[in-house]
Amino acid sequence: MSGIEPVQKQFGRAAAAYVESPNHARGEDLDRIVALATDHGGERIVDVGTGVGHTLRRVAPSFRAAVGVDATREMLEAGLGVLAGAGVKNALLIQADATALPIASESADVVTSRLAAHHFADAAGAFREIARILRPGGLFVLVDNYAPDEPELQRFINEVETLRDPSHVRNHTVAGWRGLVERAGLRTTVDSDTAITKLTTENWLERSQTPPDRAEEVRRRLRTASPSAVAAFQIARTTFAVRKLILIGRK
Ligand SMILES: C[S@@+](CC[C@H](N)C(=O)[O-])C[C@H]1O[C@@H](n2cnc3c(N)ncnc32)[C@H](O)[C@@H]1O
Repeated sequence: MSGIEPVQKQFGRAAAAYVESPNHARGEDLDRIVALATDHGGERIVDVGTGVGHTLRRVAPSFRAAVGVDATREMLEAGLGVLAGAGVKNALLIQADATALPIASESADVVTSRLAAHHFADAAGAFREIARILRPGGLFVLVDNYAPDEPELQRFINEVETLRDPSHVRNHTVAGWRGLVERAGLRTTVDSDTAITKLTTENWLERSQTPPDRAEEVRRRLRTASPSAVAAFQIARTTFAVRKLILIGRK
C-alpha cells in the first residue's frame, strides 16, 4: 500500500472513535486555531484533513463559506453528523487528497490543518497545494505533533506511532515542519511549541484498533524506553505525551 490507501484503511474503520476523542473534539490547540482563523477573518476557509470536522464546526460560523477536505469517506460521513449537531449550515465536505485540492487558486482567506499532516504521504506536496489555494495575504495555521531534535528521540516516537497506526508517516521536528511550509512559499512564525498532547496509552491504542501483537510491542517500547525518552515523552505507567506545534504560514 502507498499514498493515501493506508490512511483510508485506518481512518475508514476507526472513524466513529474520532467523534468523541477528547484530543480531537476539544483542547487548547483547537481554541487557538479557531482564534487565529477568526481573528484573521475573510470570506472563505478551507480545513485540510478535516476528519470528522472538529476544527471546521468551530471556524465555519465566522466565514461565509467553509470547506473541509479529507481523504477518507467514513470520516466525512461522521463529520456530517458533527456539523449538523453543531448547527453549521455553510460547510461543504469534499473527499480528496491534500496534494490535489479541488479548490481554485488564490480563493481561500484562511486554511487550517490540525493533527492530520503527520499522516500526509507527501506533506511537501500538500503544503504546496495549500499555498496555491491561499490568496495573497492569506493565513495558514498548522497544528500538529512534533518530534524532539535528537535523532534517537525522533526515531523512538515515529516508530511507536507507526506500530500503533501504520498510516502514521512522520512527526517532523519544529524546524522540519517549518522548512516544509516555507519551501511551499509561505513565511512562517511559530505561534507555540509548548503544548503537549497527553495520551492514555490504552485509549490511544483502542482508538486506532491496533492489532494485539503491535499493541504489545508499543507497550514494550514504552516500558523499556531510555531515560531520555522517558523524560522527553513524560512516559508513565499508563500515559505519555507528545509535543504539539502551532505554526503560522503567511502568503
Ligand atoms: C486525526 S484526523 C483529523 C483531525 C481533525 N483535523 C480534527 O481537528 O479533529 C486525521 C485525518 O487526516 C486525513 N488524511 C490523512 N492523509 C490525508 C491526505 N493525504 N489527504 C487528505 N486527508 C488526509 C485522514 O483521513 C483523517 O481523517
